[in-house]
Amino acid sequence: MAFALGPKALAAGYRLSAYEAVGSTSTEAMAWATLGDPGKLWVVAKEQTSGHGRRGRNWQTPAGNLAASLLLTQPGHGATSATLGFAAGLALEGAIRAVAPSVAVKVGLDAASGGGDRLTLKWPNDVLLNGAKIAGILLEAVTRPGAESVVVIGIGVNVLHAPKGVPYPVTSLVENGADISAETLFTALAEAWVDQETLWDEGRGFSVIRDHWLKRASGLGAPIAVKLGEDVFRGTFETIDDEGRLIVRAGDGSSRAISAGEVHFGAAATAGH
Ligand code: BTN
Repeated sequence: MAFALGPKALAAGYRLSAYEAVGSTSTEAMAWATLGDPGKLWVVAKEQTSGHGRRGRNWQTPAGNLAASLLLTQPGHGATSATLGFAAGLALEGAIRAVAPSVAVKVGLDAASGGGDRLTLKWPNDVLLNGAKIAGILLEAVTRPGAESVVVIGIGVNVLHAPKGVPYPVTSLVENGADISAETLFTALAEAWVDQETLWDEGRGFSVIRDHWLKRASGLGAPIAVKLGEDVFRGTFETIDDEGRLIVRAGDGSSRAISAGEVHFGAAATAGH
């Protein structure tokens, strides 16, 4: 099966560059930008040989998983770019829900009592299934000399395989009973993106995106620990603000807005180490 864009993405002017294998779809997308590509370009590959994640971590994409990067260009300095990650998270969550509905909602006893959502979004840009990471999103932005900002949204999904040897819980869609391919999920993602980008509206619609994101957020109102360099800041995950920053309320009532950091919930948040 080949990667393809659906009717909505094509009608909205998106293009696709698909590879068997590349080092990193995001690096490839940035290279297209350097060559003057105007954006609205999806770069997708069946396999990545040197994919990268946040905090300089390696990101594994063996064949069967999804590695997709979206190149966008915007006039101006791109200050709103950070909020694009939340739109991307919602698009991905919606796409997974559309193509693998059975993994998204609890069945059995839980269903009888109203069911429950297994698919959640973790600040800033992860998608979790039953609390384990199923996908990660990495935003990379540069400003071109002509004051145009270039953003690459890199999206990696564990469709068939969950990575080995990572320091947090991980899972894959297939491990959870979904019978889907990376290609099917990609088409759904690119379609869902069109709706989220319309809502995002160059940043003007972030308040709507923010509301939708908070409804699906993991750990809202719960203890949280945020690693900031060598320091750990503990408190309660209160909300995200209108720039997408994490708002954490400390025990003394003070709150802090955090724009980058590694987040832990639950036992790890209260363990005091
Ligand atoms: C994270 O650390 O959670 C973000 C992972 C982002 C991985 C994706 S896979 C497609 C794109 N290409 C890369 O090299 N990275 C991103």
